[in-house]
Amino acid sequence: MCWPFISSIHSSLTFRGTACTTAGPEHLPDPVVSDIRRIFAETFGVDIINPLAQAYAERFTSPENGLLKEIADHTYQHHAHAHMLSGHLQGRFLEMISRLQRPRRILEIGTFMGYSAICLAAGLREGGVLHTIELRDEDADVAEGYFRRSNMNGRIILHRGIALEIIPALQEDWDLVFIDADKVNYTEYYKLVLPRLTPGGLIIADNVLFHGKVLESPVNDKNAKAIHAFNAYVEKDDTVEKLMLTIRDGLLFIRKKINVGLS
Ligand SMILES: C[S@@+](CC[C@H](N)C(=O)[O-])C[C@H]1O[C@@H](n2cnc3c(N)ncnc32)[C@H](O)[C@@H]1O
Repeated sequence: MCWPFISSIHSSLTFRGTACTTAGPEHLPDPVVSDIRRIFAETFGVDIINPLAQAYAERFTSPENGLLKEIADHTYQHHAHAHMLSGHLQGRFLEMISRLQRPRRILEIGTFMGYSAICLAAGLREGGVLHTIELRDEDADVAEGYFRRSNMNGRIILHRGIALEIIPALQEDWDLVFIDADKVNYTEYYKLVLPRLTPGGLIIADNVLFHGKVLESPVNDKNAKAIHAFNAYVEKDDTVEKLMLTIRDGLLFIRKKINVGLS
């Protein structure tokens, strides 16, 4: 934990247009700085990405479009769990992957405000559809409003309810799956979607570093344990290729080998 850590808090406030001073931690009394560090460390774990590098990468990445910026701004101002939103850099990354892959069917598990769904849907091929699943009605209502306003309306299908119950009912073969809901069920989601993943299809799992808590020894946090077990489960699966990226909170790319058929 160091100055960039506090700087990131400061920067994110600045980026989100909230009025704040430019004072660094050296201008704050030590107990205040350590309290902020403690609270953030307890909430988010260790600081994985240097926030200065993050800000630099965002600066040289195509900007968010108007609607996505509105979603992010609104979420940061009004939602208690705004950190769950993919955000600028990861959103652009997901969009780029989807545009390269040109999927016909995308499944997203965990809609939240609809930010990542809109990013992923940008790469759909002609006639393609993205299905996204959200448990919380309040969040689904907000996301639905944004989908209506996006030029993806009609290509994004929102399902409300428990993902473990909804996924088996979706009779689709997936080209791209984004797993981003409750961490304790990641392995179950993986087992459910893998048989329906097209050969060469891609699963992207978010938060696979779980705020750095998977790096602790032993791993203590319940969600971090589940994520670590998921990472270990995928590691043993020879039917897929894996690539873990240290983007944001960690993304695991899982690509089904071409010679493995649909079940
Ligand atoms: C990390 S957020 C998703 C963020 C979004 N994908 C993005 O990148 O902007 C996780 C979402 O999954 C939802 N969720 C949690 N458990 C779920 C479940 N069992 N079934 C469906 N959705 C669930 C939560 O309500 C929350 O909105």
